[in-house]
Amino acid sequence: METSSPFTPRSPQALAISRLFVLNLVIAALIFLLVTGLIIYIAYRFRGRPGQPEPRQIAGNRRLEIAWTVAPALVLVVVFSLTLVAMRTADPPVGQQKPDLVVVGHQWWWEVQYPKSGAITANEIHIPTGKPLLVQLESADVVHNFWIPQLGPKRDMVPGKTNYIWMEADKPGAYGGACSEYCGVQHAWMRLLAIAQPQAEFDAWQQQQLRGAPAAAGGDVAQGAKLFQQMTCVNCHAISGTGAQARVAPDLTHVASRQTLAAGLLQNTPANLTSWLADPQALKPGSFMPNLQLSASDVRALVAYMETLK
Ligand code: CUA
Repeated sequence: METSSPFTPRSPQALAISRLFVLNLVIAALIFLLVTGLIIYIAYRFRGRPGQPEPRQIAGNRRLEIAWTVAPALVLVVVFSLTLVAMRTADPPVGQQKPDLVVVGHQWWWEVQYPKSGAITANEIHIPTGKPLLVQLESADVVHNFWIPQLGPKRDMVPGKTNYIWMEADKPGAYGGACSEYCGVQHAWMRLLAIAQPQAEFDAWQQQQLRGAPAAAGGDVAQGAKLFQQMTCVNCHAISGTGAQARVAPDLTHVASRQTLAAGLLQNTPANLTSWLADPQALKPGSFMPNLQLSASDVRALVAYMETLK
């Protein structure tokens, strides 16, 4: 994954924000240098010397007063204008169009829906490159904040309110993001990943996501599939093509195709999935995934089954 920094923008929206930030930084730095430089110069040039009389006292200077009122006002006008221009690029108005993506913030993971196709995933957003995408932002519980620094601005996800954001990626890559509003104990592990792909690859991914889960073959896989349906897993999770249809926790239909587990906490490997199922609370304390007190053989069967959910 590329280092996620607002200084390496990968979209027109993020570029506008980054440029505005750098410009403001330069302006502020010049003012800082001017002011500190003048202070140092004046302190040295007009320093007191032994035997000198008290200098002449000056009560005021109208020309100076006007200059140091007008100059900062002009700087503010320039900064304000540049900000308006950047906002038009980074945050263009939303019309009547349907969103390309709906992202719902949950404690502490991201639900990702593609309303145009019906695909659903979690914690990893796949997008086609070179296209401005309208993202609808919602929350299922408390205020979260959606931010993928390289792809666009950040925006709150507020319960009972719908917000929008434009997102775009110039070129393929994996771009890290995070929840940017404190939302409870696992706020720090509410990460997300945006995977930008050429249109054809994205289409293939989306087709794959629309397929139901494959039928479980025999052995551990079949045993895992059975356990999944019999235990409380189905109260929260969905696996399309099976009886599990709950929307409280991440959709697991294609969990094995994702790069991470538990919203960026763990790389998605069989070993990590095993640790996660054995004791989620040890890895992500406070998470709504309970410790189900599974036996080692149950965990093995569930992992075997979930590894087939590509
Ligand atoms: Cu969600 Cu912080």
